[in-house]
Amino acid sequence: MKTFFVVAVFLLFKSEAQRNDFYNARTSPQVPITKQSPASKVHCPEKNGRFPTGSCDGYIECEDGVGEEKLCPDGLLFNAAAGIFHFPCQYPIDVNCTGRAATQPPQATDECPHQYGYFRLGDAANCGQFINCVDGHAFVFNCPEGLAFNADSYRCDWPDEVPSCDAEAYLGFTCPQENLKSGFLEEYRTYRSPSDCQRFYICINSRPRLYNCGEGYAFNDLINACDGIENVTNCASHSQPNYGFNKNKLH
Ligand SMILES: *[C@@H]1O[C@H](CO)[C@@H](O)[C@H](O)[C@H]1NC(C)=O
Ligand SMILES: *[C@@H]1O[C@H](CO)[C@@H](O)[C@H](O)[C@H]1NC(C)=O
Repeated sequence: MKTFFVVAVFLLFKSEAQRNDFYNARTSPQVPITKQSPASKVHCPEKNGRFPTGSCDGYIECEDGVGEEKLCPDGLLFNAAAGIFHFPCQYPIDVNCTGRAATQPPQATDECPHQYGYFRLGDAANCGQFINCVDGHAFVFNCPEGLAFNADSYRCDWPDEVPSCDAEAYLGFTCPQENLKSGFLEEYRTYRSPSDCQRFYICINSRPRLYNCGEGYAFNDLINACDGIENVTNCASHSQPNYGFNKNKLH
């Protein structure tokens, strides 16, 4: 049990790092400046600065008392807190729209629900992919193996923590109902994957999470932990697919 616990902590830590990779990969919207619609002259509340309007994706930009009404590219919202040297149109999760909820109608394309933004791809049983839309074109990304895209945080999280994901259907594993003994460690149970001896599930409060022992290792039922693949019976050497942060054009 002690060995298993050390391994589990190591794996949890590793996965946290994987998730941070994704989080850091999110970049500011890359928007050509011509994408902002030029618009009518308007009154300025102050001589210089950017000011919110009644809608969440519109704003007034003032320079030397001359104001212009502007509209963010579809899918992005005006962030009054953005510094003057930053592009003021940002992703919805970074913008507070309280009191100015209206936005322009979505300009969907074949690939994207909006011109810009991050969106989940697939249904509740296929939660591992998402798209980044740039000017209406979708770039597809894969979450690290076993993780699911969370549209509320723009992160890849454990599938049981993502409301739009059916963790059991996505991972293809349902935790067996067993009588749990009380105590912290008993809340965690491990099961070798029925289809792949290098992978295993940890059931936490009866919800599964998928782990990969890694190249050269396999899950050993006898010690309830990852072990050298040569020590695990009936586990032929596997070639490891390269999971991770792949970027592909959709079309
Ligand atoms: C959003 O803005 C409103 C009004 O300015 C404020 O009351 C609220 O606390 C803000 N919410 C967050 C999450 O910052
Ligand atoms: C395989 O098992 C032996 C004996 O228990 C152990 O000494 C060895 O470290 C194991 N191999 C790996 C790679 O863990």
